[in-house]
Amino acid sequence: MLTDPSLTASYTVDWTGRFRGDTPAVVRASTTEQVRDVVDVCRRASAAIVPQGGNTGLVGGSVPARDEIVLSLRALDVIDEVDAVAGQVTAGAGATIAALQSAAAAHGWEYGVDWAARDTATVGGSVATNAGGVRVLRHGDTRAQLLGVEAVMADGSVVSHLGGLVKDNTGYHLPSLVCGSEGTLAVVTRARLRLVPRHDERVVALLGFASTGDAVEACGALRRALSSLDAVELFFRDGVALLRDQLGLAPPPFEAPAYLLVECADVVDPSDALAAAVAGLGAIDVAVANDAARRAALWRYREAHTEAINLIGPPHKLDVTVPAHALADFVASVTPRVLAIAPDARVWLFGHAADGNIHVNITAVDPDDERIDDAVLMLVASMGGSISAEHGIGTAKKRWLHLNRSEPEIAAMRAIKGALDPDGILNPNVLLP
Ligand code: MLT
Ligand code: ZN
Repeated sequence: MLTDPSLTASYTVDWTGRFRGDTPAVVRASTTEQVRDVVDVCRRASAAIVPQGGNTGLVGGSVPARDEIVLSLRALDVIDEVDAVAGQVTAGAGATIAALQSAAAAHGWEYGVDWAARDTATVGGSVATNAGGVRVLRHGDTRAQLLGVEAVMADGSVVSHLGGLVKDNTGYHLPSLVCGSEGTLAVVTRARLRLVPRHDERVVALLGFASTGDAVEACGALRRALSSLDAVELFFRDGVALLRDQLGLAPPPFEAPAYLLVECADVVDPSDALAAAVAGLGAIDVAVANDAARRAALWRYREAHTEAINLIGPPHKLDVTVPAHALADFVASVTPRVLAIAPDARVWLFGHAADGNIHVNITAVDPDDERIDDAVLMLVASMGGSISAEHGIGTAKKRWLHLNRSEPEIAAMRAIKGALDPDGILNPNVLLP
């Protein structure tokens, strides 16, 4: 248990620096029994808990808002032997996504969920937030990988359902409920996860387009043509310029108003299939990378956006989805909406094109100016989109939950929360307004 503020400091501020709080103590558990004991003590003391994994969340859900105890799960990092026959593994909440991916690869499998924070983000955090990332297009989100969980409930009981049966139709599916509940219903200690076949033959292409509309059309065409498609990511010219200014990144092989980064993976080389699919897309230029180093170099243009933006100050991070038919319109409309409120604002857009998931990042404005969030989230809702695509609600967006969830839905969510955590000790300041 850490109580010295100099030791607890890194646990009380989020990765962006926008969300920070105080805590009387950070408790680092390394076994499920220790988690259970901590939950027990906290319940008897009416002390609220924020469960925390790698603390890479971007909506303020993993740091204390009102002096909660931080319960760090990072030391529960054991990954069991991969079941190479079933294509499954049980991983501790504190195992990083990168460690999970390595364990799977060593047995001829892959873990299908991946995103830039893989070296720090943990299994427990990914389950709690139903993390998405860059391969949702092919493999789905975290919930789609989740066969079972072990979790400590608010009453101190331990629920464990890690048998990994793919067909197991025996009533309420607690893993699905806990997944995406942001630590409000239970503390996840282990997860049983589905793996996907390993595809070692990979090719990455950077495509340039004259407009967002052309890029969105191309994304649809690529999805129709390529069964090996792993990722289609979207970013823009101004974001690339920021990478150069903030990180010293060399410019990409060509300039374009809009870029798609495309990755195909298969058991046989997918290069020819990708080249054939790209031929009719109307891209203004194309760069292709087959070897690992050049593939990583192209990916850096997409993945470094988060880091580069944060270097110019804590941004408003609005992770949203809009329907595919509205994506280009949203990209065109969102910046003028923001500038109408804050003329000095800088709006950075990038995201996961195939999921309609745009990360709207806004800098050069007061991080707490909620008029900005309000304008963007209202625009999203008016287009039939979601105010949170993959980051969750946290403390950042709970005010706007009503834009996506009706009163009866929020009432049902409250009833579930009340039934499973009647004393309100599990992450009580996130998700529900
Ligand atoms: C990403 O896609 O890079 C992540 O969701 C992080 C971010 O939105 O900055
Ligand atoms: Zn993302």
